[in-house]
Amino acid sequence: MARSAILNVMVEAALKASRRLTRDFGEVENLQVSRKGPGDFVSNADKQAETTIASMLRKARPGYSMLLEESGAIKGDDTQHRWIVDPLDGTTNFLHSNPFFCISIALETQGTVVAGVIYNPITDELFTAERGQGAYLNDRRLRVSGRREMMDCLVVTGIPHPGRKTQAEFITQQNNIMIQTAGVRALGSAALSLAYVAAGRFDGYWESELAPWDIAAGILMVREAGGYVTDYDDKNEMFSNGDIIAGNEYIHKKILGILK
Ligand code: IPD
Ligand code: CA
Ligand code: CA
Repeated sequence: MARSAILNVMVEAALKASRRLTRDFGEVENLQVSRKGPGDFVSNADKQAETTIASMLRKARPGYSMLLEESGAIKGDDTQHRWIVDPLDGTTNFLHSNPFFCISIALETQGTVVAGVIYNPITDELFTAERGQGAYLNDRRLRVSGRREMMDCLVVTGIPHPGRKTQAEFITQQNNIMIQTAGVRALGSAALSLAYVAAGRFDGYWESELAPWDIAAGILMVREAGGYVTDYDDKNEMFSNGDIIAGNEYIHKKILGILK
């Protein structure tokens, strides 16, 4: 599998940031026993990871704009290209020593995501995709699952945090989906949930109130693995409204129908 030069830059940035993140994860395990817990330490860990990623991306393409979860939007000389970065997706898992988190990096060109990297340093699973070139897990080409019946399907979602406006709505959505499927899971990382749909480990995914950095790389991953991704109105407005449905052609459509 030949990666483009720009995808290699993204992979290098994710790998470099992950080395420190993995060390910090070990430290978090020690901090669990303290009464205060590892909260401040973790918020520092994701800022550090973001600094590492941003500086590597900036070095490779100095003018590109950026949308970074921790530092916000940075306008570069080149507004046609934009990096979209979540240095640690699955922070709550990380904070509780659950090894289910990742780094997510996407490159957008004129409003279209053209390359994405999602990396879980603990499992050493590197998901990559380039527009028109397919999606990969390490060196293996990915394909979404082929299931067509909801009753056979394992569906992943994200449970809204307390205080989020969609919590009541989510309970209805989950009830409606749960009675029609083999199971519903919530993994606590939107980016990894999408990567898992691309890998066929889940048949479908839905979630509300997400930010572009949670989903940019993952959307490309699913599409390049042959899947469908839209918002709840079957439109491509996930970055602006934060709602997402993903799956193969059949299951995406069925979830869309249930959520309507
Ligand atoms: C969160 C995770 C989680 C999703 C939340 C996100 P973070 O990102 O993706 O799965 O349910 O909405 O905010 O805070 O871990 O980067
Ligand atoms: Ca996130
Ligand atoms: Ca984050």
